[in-house]
Amino acid sequence: MDPVRYISNESSGKQGYEIALALSRLGVKTTLVAGPTSINFSKDIKVKKIVNADEMMAAVQKLLPVDVAVCAAAVADFKPKNKNKQKIKKDKQNLNSLNLEKNRDILEYLSKNNKLRPKLVVGFSAETENLIENSTQKLNQKHCDMIIANDISKKETGFNVDHNKISIVERSGKIESIPKNTKSYIAVKIAKKIIDKLLVNDKNTN
Ligand code: CTP
Repeated sequence: MDPVRYISNESSGKQGYEIALALSRLGVKTTLVAGPTSINFSKDIKVKKIVNADEMMAAVQKLLPVDVAVCAAAVADFKPKNKNKQKIKKDKQNLNSLNLEKNRDILEYLSKNNKLRPKLVVGFSAETENLIENSTQKLNQKHCDMIIANDISKKETGFNVDHNKISIVERSGKIESIPKNTKSYIAVKIAKKIIDKLLVNDKNTN
């Protein structure tokens, strides 16, 4: 918004990092595009650091073509339309509005990319209610192949903690629920699912 203020959220980036690490350990050449985080990245993976949604989109576009895209980032839905050059002062009685505009949706961009669509596009769905229903809706709207439904209503799982609880929803309607566990365990489950899916798809097309 100004030189010292920004719009952000509670996401630590840990689940995305763990998935990149798990894929890489399973032999997939992986690049993690990571927003601001306090994670101490392993030297085993290639990391491209970005600061905002526009930079994330540009970094993703530069990486194409890829076989798999996993969109685990909690990208801000909106950004300030104009950045104030100077710090916004509090001399007004009320700040009645902030002029915001939508960020482009990176997951949707990848899924609907006719020329360079990855073979497998995996999205996340952070929800505080109607988890499966809302996630299935996102899967269909954003045309991805799989969506990781993430219940972020509980303090002990989800954003900014070491544990998570997810359901993997596939385009076919198949749902696999993974009970509460560490984000690294869940990452391995997701990574294995991705590799299985790629192998099956390759077998069907060859
Ligand atoms: N996403 C994205 N680019 C954006 C916003 C979201 O790629 N500008 C991706 C996220 O990385 C995630 C998926 O879209 O894979 C769903 O994100 P989520 O925050 O759950 O939902 P939104 O689409 O932002 O919708 P809402 O906030 O209304 O739930």
